[in-house]
Parts: sequence; C-alpha cells; structure tokens
Amino acid sequence: MSTLNNSTNIFWQECQVGKVDRQKLLNQKGCVVWITGLSGSGKSTLAYSLSRELYSRGKLSYVLDGDNLRHGLNKDLGFKAEDRAENIRRVGEVAKLFADAGLFSIASLISPYKKDRDACRALLPDANFIEVFMNMPLELCESRDAKGLYKLARAGKIKGFTGIDDPYERPENCEIEIGQENGVCPMPAAMAGRVVSYLEEKGFLQVQ
Ligand code: ADX
Repeated sequence: MSTLNNSTNIFWQECQVGKVDRQKLLNQKGCVVWITGLSGSGKSTLAYSLSRELYSRGKLSYVLDGDNLRHGLNKDLGFKAEDRAENIRRVGEVAKLFADAGLFSIASLISPYKKDRDACRALLPDANFIEVFMNMPLELCESRDAKGLYKLARAGKIKGFTGIDDPYERPENCEIEIGQENGVCPMPAAMAGRVVSYLEEKGFLQVQ
C-alpha cells in the first residue's frame, strides 16, 4: 500500500501479460525517443519521418507532439515555466506508458528546461530514454517561421516565446545531436536514418 502526494491507500496491480511478452509479440523493444529543440527546428518533421521509417520496417511507434497534445491532454496549460514543467511531466509519463506497452514513443516538444527533460529521463532506465537535440540556429528557425509565431513574438504580440524572450537550455549529454552539415540541413529521411541506426545498434529493433 502506498501514499503518493494526494493519492492515498493505493496498490500496484500486476498484469499477467508482462513487458517482455509484449516485446516478443511486437518483436521490438519499446523506448522513448525525446526530441527537443526550438520551435521551427524540425522536431515534428523528424518525429513523423522516424515514425514512417519505423512503420516501413514493421515497427510500431506513436508520436507525442507538443502542439497536438496541447489540443487535448494539456489544453489547460500555458507557457509559463511551471506550465511547461507540467506539460513535460505529463508527456514524460505518457511516453513511459507507451514504451512500456512496447512502442517507440516519439515525444516532440520544445522542452526548454534541462531539469524537466532530466526528470523524464529519470522515469526510465537510462538506456531507454534517447534524447535527440535538434541543434538548429535561432536565425534559421526564425527564418522558416512556418506558423508566423516568431514574427508575432518579435512584435511583442506573444510574450515569453522560446528563443526570443524565454530561455532554451541546450542539452549537454544527449544521445543524438542533429545539426546543419556544411550549412545545409539534413533531409528528413537522413535525420530519421540517424535515429533508426542508433536504435538498431542498441538492439531495440529486435527481440532474441
Ligand atoms: S514546451 O515548451 O512546453 O515544450 P510545446 O512543445 O508543448 O512547448 O509547444 C510548443 C508550441 O507551442 C510551439 O511549436 C508553438 O507552435 C506554440 N507556442 C505558442 N506559444 C509559445 C511560446 N510562448 N513559446 C514557445 N512555443 C509557443
């Protein structure tokens, strides 16, 4: 029996179908691929390209996209530091569940604070949290401005926009860093390929 914050008198229930059973069923070892970076850095592009590439190899994944989740699960949250922390915490917990279910759980969020990302990492065995940093310069992200939000932020119409008047803390020890090569951004398939190779190398793509 446990007491956790406001939850009292609660019990952990075990299911007869365990994680290893699910891994064997799917012939894959689920984990969390956590993509962090500025708005416009290509997080969603990588997430969806990765999901497609895994699908083409018969591997199941699900994308947890920050913008999308803010339409439902996280629609009560804004962009203050505490709200972003709660946003990341919830997505971390959901990502952990999806990974436990056996899927490649691909989280794509700005997740600007190191402390919040590290708290998600701490929810999983270290090897099962793969942090991918989309290391693209602000000038590039701003020049893309697909949603027109940088323009609004520069005009002062959006306050606390990441990279403009709100911080982004770069990862220090991420598993994968994706940046420009000779001033050119890698194509989506190439970025996805980097992550797939990593998963393959670490043995996530098959179960003995
Ligand atoms: S996070 O910081 O809490 O991780 P999240 O990834 O969920 O952010 O959402 C970011 C998206 O919200 C951006 O891609 C952008 O479309 C939108 N957005 C709206 N306001 C802001 C803001 N103040 N800072 C950053 N992104 C914002």
